[in-house]
Amino acid sequence: MNGKLKVGLLGCGGIAQIAHLPALKKAENVEFTAICDVAEDLVNLMAKRYEVDAIYTDHRKFLEHADMDAVLLPVAHAFHAPLSIECMRAGKDMLVEKPMAMTVEECEQMLQVSEETGRQLQIGCMKRYDPGLQFAQKFVAEEMGERLSVSGWYCDTVFHGQYVHCLALPLRSSSAQRRPERGGTGDGHLDMILGHGVHAIDTIRFFGGDVVAVTTKVAEKRQGINSTSLFEFADGACGSFQLICTVKMDWFEGITVHGENGSVVAQIGFPYYRKASDVKVFDAKRGEYRTPAVPDADPYERQLEAFAAAILEGREVSPNAKDGLAAQKVMMAVHESAKAGKRVEIV
Ligand SMILES: NC(=O)c1ccc[n+]([C@@H]2O[C@H](COP(=O)([O-])OP(=O)(O)OC[C@H]3O[C@@H](n4cnc5c(N)ncnc54)[C@H](O)[C@@H]3O)[C@@H](O)[C@H]2O)c1
Repeated sequence: MNGKLKVGLLGCGGIAQIAHLPALKKAENVEFTAICDVAEDLVNLMAKRYEVDAIYTDHRKFLEHADMDAVLLPVAHAFHAPLSIECMRAGKDMLVEKPMAMTVEECEQMLQVSEETGRQLQIGCMKRYDPGLQFAQKFVAEEMGERLSVSGWYCDTVFHGQYVHCLALPLRSSSAQRRPERGGTGDGHLDMILGHGVHAIDTIRFFGGDVVAVTTKVAEKRQGINSTSLFEFADGACGSFQLICTVKMDWFEGITVHGENGSVVAQIGFPYYRKASDVKVFDAKRGEYRTPAVPDADPYERQLEAFAAAILEGREVSPNAKDGLAAQKVMMAVHESAKAGKRVEIV
């Protein structure tokens, strides 16, 4: 390898256009070598816009493309497991959009195929590459000492569509795009957890480690769903997790961590701004607050660069398939706890 990972894109829909296509062009250690979508008009348009010569409408032919080490897979959730398994069996390392899959069983299968084939699988929880959150997480891991509490919240905004209009080129679609027959799971709470909650749960695990039990209550009103949980962590810390779609205010997402030698407060912005979170770390030993300034903060580009660096240097990716599986178990426990009206332990 010439110091660059050769990556192909499978899926040219919404998030590919907003985030992944620009990231594939900008990432310093990536060569964007091939592109695929069943929708011929759409894939041709994106190939032209991003100057890619190898264009495919059949993913099996795309996987035969010689000049490609890894695949970035932004397709509907229901296709994550079958397509990533096929790609790994074809010898490709994978960057798969979140959530890892639809069910715990699918995630287990993906992990098994990753281990069998020796191909790596990174989940697209790009907030781990927000440099503000990375600064805060480093403090928690290296200086804060014992954790007392870790809490996260994620409230989607009524302004979501206006943000997309403001921050992205007009989204292009095609009647030939492939989507699952059923739009979702048929359960609004579960769809919200899989589509949105997954980000906050990965962030909470990034700061708090393994979640071992959850107790969730859901309020469902005309204006939306509020899912509020108590999380218990393996190290004995506990905290809250709140997921609301949608709130009648601006995007509202963040995390707080309190521990032996300090605290962290992070306000996470609307993702397509590609701006580092507003982070304040209180270092109790020094008696001072610290705030990082990181202007070059595109989390989608940085996750792709980190993925490429890990593959090129033979290191483990993050979040890896085991993290994806652990997050999936937490998501399912939140759903189960709300349905059953009781505390659910995660095994
Ligand atoms: N990380 C984030 O910020 C973020 C934001 C939005 C969506 N997502 C995730 O990204 C994923 C994709 O979301 P989206 O809204 O872009 O989906 P989408 O349905 O708009 O786009 C997916 C594209 O993949 C193509 N496709 C599907 N199966 C294919 C196949 N076998 N061969 C070739 N092309 C195929 C479709 O034709 C479509 O164009 C979802 O899992 C979603 O959760 C992540």
